[in-house]
Amino acid sequence: MSTIKISKFLSEAGVASRRKSETLVTQGLIFVNGKKMANVARRIDPAKDKIAFNGKLVQIQNLAYYLLDKPVGYTSTTEDAHARKLITELVPEFPKVWPVGRLDKYTSGLILLTNDGQMTLKLTHPRYRVEKEYEITAGKPLNEAEIKFIQRGIKLEDGFIKPDRFEKIGDNSYRIVIHSGKKHVVRRLIEKTGNSVARLKRTRIGFLTLDGLQTGKWRPLTQREIEKLTE
Ligand code: URA
Repeated sequence: MSTIKISKFLSEAGVASRRKSETLVTQGLIFVNGKKMANVARRIDPAKDKIAFNGKLVQIQNLAYYLLDKPVGYTSTTEDAHARKLITELVPEFPKVWPVGRLDKYTSGLILLTNDGQMTLKLTHPRYRVEKEYEITAGKPLNEAEIKFIQRGIKLEDGFIKPDRFEKIGDNSYRIVIHSGKKHVVRRLIEKTGNSVARLKRTRIGFLTLDGLQTGKWRPLTQREIEKLTE
């Protein structure tokens, strides 16, 4: 029989960090074989014991990390039951993974899918300030004043957004580096100038880039990349 601490089990299953898992036990939220777990120090056997949290069985799954170059036309939320094309169809079906953050249906480019709850939390929490970089093709060229207007930051309905960088890279194309993960944030910034977005592609998330990927294809994260993202 191989036993482990409940906090290790819960953190490996992606429920919460080790410390938070201990709190869940002391709050009486963890059940072992149908009985409330009373003692944080009690060890469990993952092969035999049935651990439940929030009424659901907790199981350690193999963690999976896929970096995908999302094509236009695919929906990145897993909740949209009506969407015809879901990005989860582009990666292996098992273990089940979900997208970290979102990309609009008509935005292409880099998106990470995983079943690692802690990594998801870390990458999506504003506190960690992960940089995202996008290439934009605007409906028409922006003039100098409009570029400056975006560079200085714009008050949107849900807060003030100042890009870390906004620069012209072609006649009608721009590069933006931004930390915000707010819905449609890049499109909304461009639209505030009276312009529109003809094409939007995410080219970078932190240190992860599109290098070596092709549209619609994924690659697993390397062990080193996983460590860098979770350290
Ligand atoms: N900003 C947008 O407007 N759309 C995206 O998909 C991502 C960022």
